Amino acid sequence: MARHLVTSALPYINGIKHLGNMVGSMLPADVYSRYLRQRGHDVLYICATDEHGTPAELAAKEQGLPVDEFCARAHDAQKAVYDGFELAFDYFGRSSSPQNAEITQHFARKLYENGFIEERAIRQVYSPVDGRFLPDRYVEGTCPHCGYDKARGDQCENCTRVLDPTDLIEPRSAISGSTELEVRETKHLFLLQSKLQHEVEAWIDRVSPEWPHLSTSIARKWLTEGLNDRAITRDLDWGVPVPADTWPELATEGKVFYVWFDAPIEYIAATKEWADAAPDGETRDWKSWWYEADDTVRYTQFMAKDNVPFHTVMFPATELGVREPWKKVDLVKGFNWLTYYGGKFSTSQKRGVFTDTALSLLPADYWRYFLVANAPE
Ligand code: MF3
Ligand code: ZN
Repeated sequence: MARHLVTSALPYINGIKHLGNMVGSMLPADVYSRYLRQRGHDVLYICATDEHGTPAELAAKEQGLPVDEFCARAHDAQKAVYDGFELAFDYFGRSSSPQNAEITQHFARKLYENGFIEERAIRQVYSPVDGRFLPDRYVEGTCPHCGYDKARGDQCENCTRVLDPTDLIEPRSAISGSTELEVRETKHLFLLQSKLQHEVEAWIDRVSPEWPHLSTSIARKWLTEGLNDRAITRDLDWGVPVPADTWPELATEGKVFYVWFDAPIEYIAATKEWADAAPDGETRDWKSWWYEADDTVRYTQFMAKDNVPFHTVMFPATELGVREPWKKVDLVKGFNWLTYYGGKFSTSQKRGVFTDTALSLLPADYWRYFLVANAPE
């Protein structure tokens, strides 16, 4: 009897997910976990809401709620839908948990000790009216390529070009609308992924032969382009704080980790949440699934294809750089997009069938069967 650890990509906290999200990660992970349980294996199926980052802050602002309260409500709303779909998670956690803050900070300290994190000064947009630095999405303006006047600092929705906030013409704050913006120098932590490139390559050579072609080809493409050092902190109020014991200055400035740094660590932290939530008399050993896990633990991740680079390259780089024996994924199951009348499902454009509506139309099993039978795979 093997021990199977199964995770599905953590759904973003903002908004109820559509059926494309469901079929690309949670539903197949649930089906696989049920199958393994029926075969008599010891299965731990973990998921959580991905709660940090600008989308959560902006969604909370739209609803006029403090971000922690928005997240608590949105978590419960998503959980109710997943219960409706009869997703049999062993635990459905929250990336804003204290467990995640603790493990994320631990990872960052270790990466720093091992020479894989460095402080660098960068130039960023500052808004004196708002009294804060504005991360990418908080700056709006005119796209220098197509002239669209509501382009965001990270990307133009009209021509899809990737932008830097300092590229925008007539930039303004998405919070206050103020155009009185400055560029100031500020320090951030950078994860030196370039130094880990060879180790990630060697690891992928070893484990990827049994991955589906989709996962392997995406991972190889990223490695061929070369791993870049990436800023892993942001100037936001909401997120895992940079630990003051290691970076006192950045902590005083209120820097938090970038959402894609703490989100995959939540797979581990949610397992600790599961252990911490054990009823009296039951002990749950979260570490045996993740730390110095023996060869009987087999770890399978489920996700849609846009998440594959983070799971095949970036999170493994983080885990390798920590220099502790954290369990790494054995099988990355990446999924193509489910389409809706030939087009893309879209949360921002409210296009497609959403999971709460689906349940109000038909019982869960109808959807479960239809979606699995018609998944792009
Ligand atoms: N929230 C992300 C998305 O929906 C997925 C996060 S997966 C994790 O695209 F690994 F970071 F947790
Ligand atoms: Zn444009």
